[in-house]
Amino acid sequence: MMKQHNEKSAAVLGLGMMGATLAKLLLAQGYGVTVWNRSADKSVPLAEAGAKVAATPEEAVNSGNVIVMCVHDYAAANAILARTETADWKGKVLVQLTSGSPAEAERLEAWTEALGAGYLDGAIQAAPQQMGREDTPLYISGKKTAWEAALPVLKTFAGAPEWLGERAGLASSVDLATLSGIYGTLMGFFHGARIMEHAGFPVDKYAGLLTGILSTFGEFIKYEGQLVHENRFVKTESPLSISVDASARIQEQARDAGINSAFPDYLAGMFRRAADMGLADEELSAMIKVLRV
Ligand SMILES: NC(=O)c1ccc[n+]([C@@H]2O[C@H](COP(=O)([O-])OP(=O)(O)OC[C@H]3O[C@@H](n4cnc5c(N)ncnc54)[C@H](OP(=O)(O)O)[C@@H]3O)[C@@H](O)[C@H]2O)c1
Repeated sequence: MMKQHNEKSAAVLGLGMMGATLAKLLLAQGYGVTVWNRSADKSVPLAEAGAKVAATPEEAVNSGNVIVMCVHDYAAANAILARTETADWKGKVLVQLTSGSPAEAERLEAWTEALGAGYLDGAIQAAPQQMGREDTPLYISGKKTAWEAALPVLKTFAGAPEWLGERAGLASSVDLATLSGIYGTLMGFFHGARIMEHAGFPVDKYAGLLTGILSTFGEFIKYEGQLVHENRFVKTESPLSISVDASARIQEQARDAGINSAFPDYLAGMFRRAADMGLADEELSAMIKVLRV
């Protein structure tokens, strides 16, 4: 059972670019904020803005009802938390906003719950200067009781945080999956930049052209995602054969032009595998079958 907190108090462990931003947002919403950071100098601007500075992580945990953690990685987070095992954790909620893996989140949930506290794991999908807005994307997973207890704090970070469900690792899964989508697009963008450099066309103009198609591309991703979700592979919009041919053309051009072909080699190889599996005449969504084996 989480404590019902009338007092608006929170602690922030980790005052890097993101943690310091979170602490400032809480202060702006009238929270009593206690901060701790490994390097003490980063606490100074927060103290000037009204935060209490804890001498140890334990003191910070004892001072807040919701404990927000945002450091480099789980190894750092776990080392800090190991110093709080004798703190008064009962009925509090740890909001872990450090990026990590689903397994790390689940292990930390078990540790936190053993101390009588609730645990939430979060994926921040925005830069520090984009925090605190109505449209800031913030995904949270963990027990519903912990979510309800920490919601006012989470709403200072993002106008409409989204609860994904009770399994603590879900937020990290979303983080990894969206990063996968973004890095795939980014690598494609960089390869495209090399094509345009070779063609003598300004890369900034190409970036503008690519950006211009992102909203219609977004609609297409949603459509294909729906088909994958429903296991529908009969061609309706884009037969896989188009992508088999297009990726082979990108690969061939890279080789002809003498530009690095690592990205198209991978891409064309994956689509060739789909064709070898007899999927060329199915909808693009059938690509998931290559990855399911
Ligand atoms: N910045 C972003 O755009 C962004 C966006 C989404 C998610 N995130 C996630 O937010 C987390 C923090 O990111 P950030 O941008 O704030 O990073 P950052 O500015 O590099 O700050 C890193 C923080 O981690 C602390 N730290 C690192 N190693 C430590 C250790 N061994 N023991 C104790 N403290 C340690 C640092 O303490 P010191 O000050 O003492 O070095 C600092 O407080 C990361 O997991 C990141 O993936 C960041």
